[in-house]
Amino acid sequence: EKIVLAYSGGLDTSVILKWLKETYDAEIIAFTADIGQKDELDGLEEKALATGASKIYIDDLRAEFAKDFINPMFQAAALYEGQYLLGTSIARPLIAKRMVEIARAEGATAIAHGATGKGNDQVRFELTAAALAPEISVIAPWRLEEFREQFPGRAEMIAYAEKHNIPVTASASKPYSTDRNLLHISFESGMLEDPWFDPSATSNKDMFVLSVDPEDAPDQAEYIELEFAAGDCVAINGTQLSPLEVMETLNELGGKHGIGRVDMVENRFVGMKSRGVYETPGGTILFTAHRKMESLTMDRDVMHLRDSLISKYASLVYNGFWFAPERLAIQALVSESQKNVSGTVRLKLYKGNVIGAGVKSPVSLYNPDIATMEADPTKAYDQGDATGFIRLNALRLKVGSGVEQNAKK
Ligand code: ARG
Ligand code: SIN
Repeated sequence: EKIVLAYSGGLDTSVILKWLKETYDAEIIAFTADIGQKDELDGLEEKALATGASKIYIDDLRAEFAKDFINPMFQAAALYEGQYLLGTSIARPLIAKRMVEIARAEGATAIAHGATGKGNDQVRFELTAAALAPEISVIAPWRLEEFREQFPGRAEMIAYAEKHNIPVTASASKPYSTDRNLLHISFESGMLEDPWFDPSATSNKDMFVLSVDPEDAPDQAEYIELEFAAGDCVAINGTQLSPLEVMETLNELGGKHGIGRVDMVENRFVGMKSRGVYETPGGTILFTAHRKMESLTMDRDVMHLRDSLISKYASLVYNGFWFAPERLAIQALVSESQKNVSGTVRLKLYKGNVIGAGVKSPVSLYNPDIATMEADPTKAYDQGDATGFIRLNALRLKVGSGVEQNAKK
């Protein structure tokens, strides 16, 4: 039997690797997706093999992540509960997709992951697997009683690792959980479980990874120009860039200016509230710029229709329904809505803020001749028409308030 394990090289997935091998008497194929987590990939291959994997796939999925996952999601202007840019949520379906591809290529019957039974990630991995490869089964050790009994805490895992000569990174592990990729880094649990704990306090400065504290950002604002074509950013400051390069460039700029920190209590799909802190420097710039590009180029009713779907779309991504038919249906509408979202946005980055500094487009729908307070040379708009427009819209309001006043008499 072969099992493909989503492996990070951390204590949990290392212990799980060995435990799966022993418990199921199976061949374990480790899989690590490079989705921009950077240094966490160093020394992974040796580690996986030393821990007992028969082989390891380390696949660079960054370009696909940017082009086929981040870009479509930003076209939808997705935002979960008004704050979260879905950095972890959007990466899970890509990881799971590649995992089932490997499972099929290797003739494995199961995939395994180290997500807990209390979180969103387990749902995202498994709904993706269900949608793409229903014949493959899933093993989630943290949901198995025998696994939880054997490993009630970190001490038991460390002891198990020592007993089995599993190489565990010596560096004192952080008192909170992180998840990093090209779009963001998340922080959860530990001291963050107290929602009154202040992550922005000077004493907590060391936690942050992708951005400087806005208070430490440069005193000089920085202007940048983002060029959009059909809803995607394709160039920055005049240089054409791939979707991956766009994210890398914006992360650099956003991080330098302390942009994109979020601290929230969010609603997990499994029903509980959870406190999360995020750094999404590049994504925050992109989100703001895209919205400004739309303001000039998008038809009003198309925009309002797309906007009415934002919370639905964001929940679909958050809850793991990326490969569900309703997400694809909304995406088709979103994609149609973006055809004209092209032009240039100028922004000023300053101490945690993304400030609009101009927008232009060859396909702008904004017509200063129509909007002007001065005489309209186009004669497209007759102010007299507004009298009837208002009268008809007022009709039912007058009738309604008349009924209410009569009732009071
Ligand atoms: N709460 C965020 C989400 O559900 C972040 C999850 C972080 N996951 C992790 N394995 N550390 O998208
Ligand atoms: C986990 O529980 O494995 C991480 C957090 C989450 O998935 O929401």
